[in-house]
Amino acid sequence: MGKAAREIPVGALSETEAATEIARLTDLIRQANVAYYQEDAPVMSDAEYDAARRRLSLIEAVFPRLKRVDSPSGQVGAAPQEGFARIRHAVPMLSLANAFDGEDVREFDRGIRSFLGLAPDAPLAYTAEPKIDGLSLAIRYEQGALIHAATRGDGAVGEDVTANARTIGDIPHRIAGAPDILEVRGEVYMGHADFAALNAAQKARGEKTFANPRNAAAGSLRQLDPAVTATRPLRFFAYAWGEVSEPLAATQMEALERLAQMGFVINDLTRLCPDTDSLLAHYARIERERATLGYDIDGVVYKVNDLSLQARLGMRSTTPRWAIAHKFPAEMAWTRLERIDIQVGRTGALSPVARLSPVTVGGVVVSNATLHNEDYIAGRDSAGAPIREGRDIREGDWVQVYRAGDVIPKIRDVDLSRRPADSKPFEFPKKCPECGADAVREPGDSVRRCTGGLACPAQQVEKLRHFVSRPAFDIEGLGARQIEAFHRRGWVLSPADIFTLQSRHGAELAGLEGWGETSAQKLFAAIESRRRIPLARLIFALGIRHVGEAAARLLARSFLTWEALLAVIDAAAPREGEAWDSLLAIDGIGTVMAASLVTAFHQPGERAAIDALTRELTEIIPAEPPAQQSPVAGKTVVFTGKLEQMTRAEAKARAEALGAKVAGSVSKRTDLVIAGPGAGSKAKKAAELGIEVLDEAAWLALIGA
Ligand code: IVH
Repeated sequence: MGKAAREIPVGALSETEAATEIARLTDLIRQANVAYYQEDAPVMSDAEYDAARRRLSLIEAVFPRLKRVDSPSGQVGAAPQEGFARIRHAVPMLSLANAFDGEDVREFDRGIRSFLGLAPDAPLAYTAEPKIDGLSLAIRYEQGALIHAATRGDGAVGEDVTANARTIGDIPHRIAGAPDILEVRGEVYMGHADFAALNAAQKARGEKTFANPRNAAAGSLRQLDPAVTATRPLRFFAYAWGEVSEPLAATQMEALERLAQMGFVINDLTRLCPDTDSLLAHYARIERERATLGYDIDGVVYKVNDLSLQARLGMRSTTPRWAIAHKFPAEMAWTRLERIDIQVGRTGALSPVARLSPVTVGGVVVSNATLHNEDYIAGRDSAGAPIREGRDIREGDWVQVYRAGDVIPKIRDVDLSRRPADSKPFEFPKKCPECGADAVREPGDSVRRCTGGLACPAQQVEKLRHFVSRPAFDIEGLGARQIEAFHRRGWVLSPADIFTLQSRHGAELAGLEGWGETSAQKLFAAIESRRRIPLARLIFALGIRHVGEAAARLLARSFLTWEALLAVIDAAAPREGEAWDSLLAIDGIGTVMAASLVTAFHQPGERAAIDALTRELTEIIPAEPPAQQSPVAGKTVVFTGKLEQMTRAEAKARAEALGAKVAGSVSKRTDLVIAGPGAGSKAKKAAELGIEVLDEAAWLALIGA
């Protein structure tokens, strides 16, 4: 670094000096990375580089508040195993709703017209373009320079793959004529020929081959060493954008053209379509050409062309209203069902898995498929009505397997003409195959569950695997395999045991095969670092039935602290009263989830495990209160009468996006009534109750529309 002599010891830095130092070191390391990995022209010695990284890590350790989400510490180079840094997306990365046939597409168009209040024959153009089967990437440019690139991750936070993205030829490092801030989004993928060549080379070297081009692209982009990514033939199509400091254009099509002018590759099968017939015609063309494109696609994406309409349409919780993916039909194949195994999940669900004679379905070798539940095997749905015309599925049968997109392969049908003469109906076990406890079906539940609870080893392992998974505690170096091994030895039976592992078995672990002093110390350091955990992660990690990632975030945002959450759940046990009502008052939490929460926290074994865990934690980081308070956040509003500027649906969506709750009738709990012409009894009632009534113009002024 050359500046070592003038460096202030980290302990003596003020917070401001530390922030300046972090900025300087971050730049220095970034430049060094680019010079080394992309330009093959190092600008400093390895020792200087290592010293810069060490100093940055040290400052970050002493001033953890200053650590930048995109910090280069722990990324490339010296300590690759540490994994990727995280980048919070300035604008969430959404996924797309699906359409499976022409009727779904027409319904999409009707829904948009009704939301916007457009007549059936009013002009409404869409773009149509292939849906690339790769992985999405967001690339941020500031003043035309590539600043960072992040994977989608959970949509809110992705992985920092900047160094890797820079090795992709289709991704410009500098762009001209762009807004000051421009985040370009698109798909990283690998072409068929490149994929075949890569697999052949991997095989020749005795290294692992990839199941399909998408896996190869994902594996290549998520390499900890960008030098490896640089050798992989990755490509990139741009099709969308995130944060922009000024609008790119007035329409989707023009925006894509601008991206093309800046040097991005836009798919040449992108078309502007004036109506749904034209969308479907273009879909048919793309489907015909699919096999000759040279890369995988799994459907066609339709987007409203007018960007001001896109803005008005906005989004649902995870998908935009203005776009849809029209998927190609699933790929299928016939094969023999060798055996039906029963797996026990973390909530005790007994899941039947079909073990198949390996067969290629859409380019992927499939040897397992889900059979859903016992009714599905028996040929009936959960209401008892026949499926597959009542044909059951048996071991030894020939079955039709299909894959739709990413999901686990499924069994669609069975060929009775090839059924062995001596076959017998499959008998679904009534006892847990793992622990022998009774497996029971609650009325109305399609799933049979083991009643062994935390005493069932399979449930223990699954709960632990969930606990350490990426969206949960995400403990570096502690994956499913290690959990299984520790569980087998009896070292880790519940989450709290992870945090006492070092004191109980630290020395033994270092001596185990595949481990050593260094890797054991690394694991323990990773575990220690997780004694501070954000509230939402903790809630999700508990693995409570019906409480997924989104619900965990919702609970965290609603209660902010663990103590507040616990107090309400504890008081909600009678499933009535104020605490219970306050759980149900949260938009997005229904009785099923609330009941599941209460049950889990009141089940003594489960509660003991939760308490033991929280005793091991040093800080449960409270959730951030909603960032910007809109004037209507948390208020209950009622629309009545005719709105003139927008449809009811749009008004409701806008109000909800600003944090308001939209109710259908006026009551004491109503905060605000927006009354258009023709408003009748509701406006009157509001006046009686002394509730504020606004006309549409005043409402729009209030929300700054
Ligand atoms: S638009 C707001 N266009 O499909 C919507 N997505 O299932 C942003 N994808 O996460 C996505 N090709 O990774 C869009 N031409 C295309 C696409 C495309 C592939 C992926 C993308 C997205 C996923 C949703």
